[in-house]
Amino acid sequence: STSPDFDMVLFGGTGDLVMRKLLPALYHAYQAGLLARNGRILALGRQVLTRDGYLAQASPLVRPHLEGDTETAWLDFCGRLDYQQLDANRPEDYPALAAKLGHDPARVVVCYLATAPALFSMICQQLAEVGLNHGQVRVVLEKPLGHDLASSNAINDAVARHFGEEQLYRIDHYLGKESVQNLMALRFGNVLFEPLWRREWVQSVQITIAEELGVEGRGEFYDRTGALRDMMQNHLLQLLCMVTMEPPASLDADAIRGEKLKVLKALRPFSPEDVAAKTVRGQYGAGAVAGQLVAGYQSEEGIAPHSHTETFVALKAEIDNWRWAGVPFFLRTGKRMQQRVAEIVITFHDVPHKLFPLAPTCRSGNRLVIELQPEESVRLWFQAKEPGDGMNLQPVFLNLDFHETFRVRRVDAYERLLLDVIRGRLALFMRREELVEAWRWVEPILDAWQQGKALPRPYPAGTWGPPAASALPARDGVTWHEEC
Ligand code: BG6
Repeated sequence: STSPDFDMVLFGGTGDLVMRKLLPALYHAYQAGLLARNGRILALGRQVLTRDGYLAQASPLVRPHLEGDTETAWLDFCGRLDYQQLDANRPEDYPALAAKLGHDPARVVVCYLATAPALFSMICQQLAEVGLNHGQVRVVLEKPLGHDLASSNAINDAVARHFGEEQLYRIDHYLGKESVQNLMALRFGNVLFEPLWRREWVQSVQITIAEELGVEGRGEFYDRTGALRDMMQNHLLQLLCMVTMEPPASLDADAIRGEKLKVLKALRPFSPEDVAAKTVRGQYGAGAVAGQLVAGYQSEEGIAPHSHTETFVALKAEIDNWRWAGVPFFLRTGKRMQQRVAEIVITFHDVPHKLFPLAPTCRSGNRLVIELQPEESVRLWFQAKEPGDGMNLQPVFLNLDFHETFRVRRVDAYERLLLDVIRGRLALFMRREELVEAWRWVEPILDAWQQGKALPRPYPAGTWGPPAASALPARDGVTWHEEC
């Protein structure tokens, strides 16, 4: 159904996120008839530009990311789009914004802060000054929400001075991915899996987000951030929560977020010794990705010479609760890896008594592999008898490919999430306490790395990370999915 009427105000309107993700997402939603016809999109930026000047700047940056792009469709979409000059740091620029939006208390106003988080506090204060914090105003906060617990708290406190928690949409775009939604459907819409979804039956869980991309012109930001803050603290932990949370009582935002929070609180904290034993950090050197030679991290633009920032992290997490005690969770993410893949692998225990000779393969037990990207699928691996003489078993899988099955347009995470904000649905956005717990868990790792002398381990671009990454799960008798 079509969204309610809205104004979408994009702070950081000339930036990369707006061009590459947000405008394409809005375009696709608009084309699909999901956005109210008189919804307005207002990009804000410091540059002095006319509306036409902005559209001319946006066109070559946005259009390569559009599906079904035609001149007519683009011009139609541009009819919804406007630009206004605003320097987030100048209070005198905000009254013009308020005047432009007008005051219609029934109209939803979404302020998407696609800017550096250092500006969040100022923007929220100034929005409030000009009355743009009434009940229909929603603020979307992009990551990174802080650098550590203290800075994250400072941002959240500053924002909370002017907006209620129910007006705040902390985005983690992984939660908007279709296959993450499907994980809920798989777990809680079927009776088959849930009884097995616990320590008695699950031997280990792996969650991988591997990228082929490097730092892509974001060197300066990335070098201050690293993989643990950029990916683990948010995307991987959110996936972990979706895999391990208890069934929520309903699909209410707080029912779901409350269950996720319990998982975060049950994560076993890392001592400095644990950090040494259960985390591996790496940094890519020169190598080849998809047949192309690529430079090492330290030769990328914006990276400090001899930088110690990690571009890869693997770790073993444990959840101290009744359902998951003793089950190892191996999480890893990296840039410039061999293959772009995001997947969750649930490995079940072996049968208690082995009747059959096994074919020489290590994929012996049952595995459920949920692929989030590049394809969206669920594969259930099990053992079947090889045809013919003898009684040899082979691992085979049942495959559910969502695209093949439903054959509908793929919806990007940002499209789904932007529509949720306009409709006032908070379930796929993080509540403040989740952020606090995630930082609380990650911080000792950051501290121990900083205090320790160990440098990130090198790995050639185009591989699965440093060798120590394979040794980590091996101690629990586990191999990464691609290795067997
Ligand atoms: C972002 C990170 O949050 O997620 C990027 O800042 C990363 O470094 C990106 O490349 C990955 O998202 P996706 O959807 O392409 O897997």
